[in-house]
Amino acid sequence: MMAKSVFVTGATGFVGSRLVENLIDKEYEVTSLIRRGKQSHPKSDSVIGDLTDSKLEIPIENVECVFHLASHTPLEKNKKILEKVNLEGTKNLFEQIKDKTKSLIYISGLGVYGDPGDKIVDENFPYNPDTNFVKIRLEAQKFLEKNCNDLGINFSVVHFGDVYGPRGWFYEFLIKRLLKNTFRLPKNGDYYKGFVHVDDAAGSLISVLEQKTNNESYIVADSTPAKFRDFVDFTAEQIGAKRAGSVPVFLAKTVLGGDLIKLLTTSMKVSNKKISQIYDFKFPSYKEGIPNVISELKSKGLLN
Ligand SMILES: NC(=O)c1ccc[n+]([C@@H]2O[C@H](COP(=O)([O-])OP(=O)(O)OC[C@H]3O[C@@H](n4cnc5c(N)ncnc54)[C@H](OP(=O)(O)O)[C@@H]3O)[C@@H](O)[C@H]2O)c1
Repeated sequence: MMAKSVFVTGATGFVGSRLVENLIDKEYEVTSLIRRGKQSHPKSDSVIGDLTDSKLEIPIENVECVFHLASHTPLEKNKKILEKVNLEGTKNLFEQIKDKTKSLIYISGLGVYGDPGDKIVDENFPYNPDTNFVKIRLEAQKFLEKNCNDLGINFSVVHFGDVYGPRGWFYEFLIKRLLKNTFRLPKNGDYYKGFVHVDDAAGSLISVLEQKTNNESYIVADSTPAKFRDFVDFTAEQIGAKRAGSVPVFLAKTVLGGDLIKLLTTSMKVSNKKISQIYDFKFPSYKEGIPNVISELKSKGLLN
């Protein structure tokens, strides 16, 4: 069987790097978009470029799919920078790949659903973003959806819950700070979140690709909506750290910015019924996933 080729943006990031690893394990031929000075997976080809560069060139042959994960995080408070990377960068990317791919999978978050109150959110729930960060990302999604439809490129969007693993916010902000006893919970962590282990985030993206879906959206979170406080307490217990204290929302906003704190403290319970029809979660609950991440961190010497 001929290996299938795919192109991944955000390939050096937390989720993108795991996606590339998993694709290569499944014998896909992967080309990664990486910025100058960064390293791609040794078995991936790479294209060096920055999405914000109007002269961006992506000299790839035809691929089955482009996974678009590159993004600025909601830690960026400057709306102009967010627009430049997340919207203009997406348009630059599309210009380069529009005649070279059969499908495009756009990766987004649950912030598109705004504040759903007590309702369980599934893919039929209306979009209602209430942060600049998500409004800009949704504009990029709509741009891709329309242009893919116009050109006959299969388009799907995947909305991740909070992805935890041995990198990203979970390691950098939670584990490291719990160990130093400096992690604080805005609103005492009293809100529901949909968590997902990074292996399941990457695995579900590959399932979406292999289903050859078109004009579909998927919510990707595990089967156990959990309060942020419980998730954090469980992590602390597993690494032998003290329980986190809390911090008033207004103070947290001054440090991390309004968009990030709003996204973090909005309570949301989601259903993963649709993605579960095409993907079997390895870690249906954080109580199984966190011990796995901790043993990976220990095996890499990142945790005692
Ligand atoms: N992690 C989560 O919990 C979560 C939750 C919901 C949705 N998501 C979405 O999932 C995707 C991946 O998230 P992540 O946590 O893996 O993010 P990440 O670790 O911050 O990685 C972002 C990636 O985008 C690249 N990038 C940023 N600006 C770029 C530019 N101007 N040109 C080219 N590449 C650029 C980064 O490259 P460098 O390495 O060079 O910086 C990096 O590879 C994002 O779209 C994110 O919004 C993530």
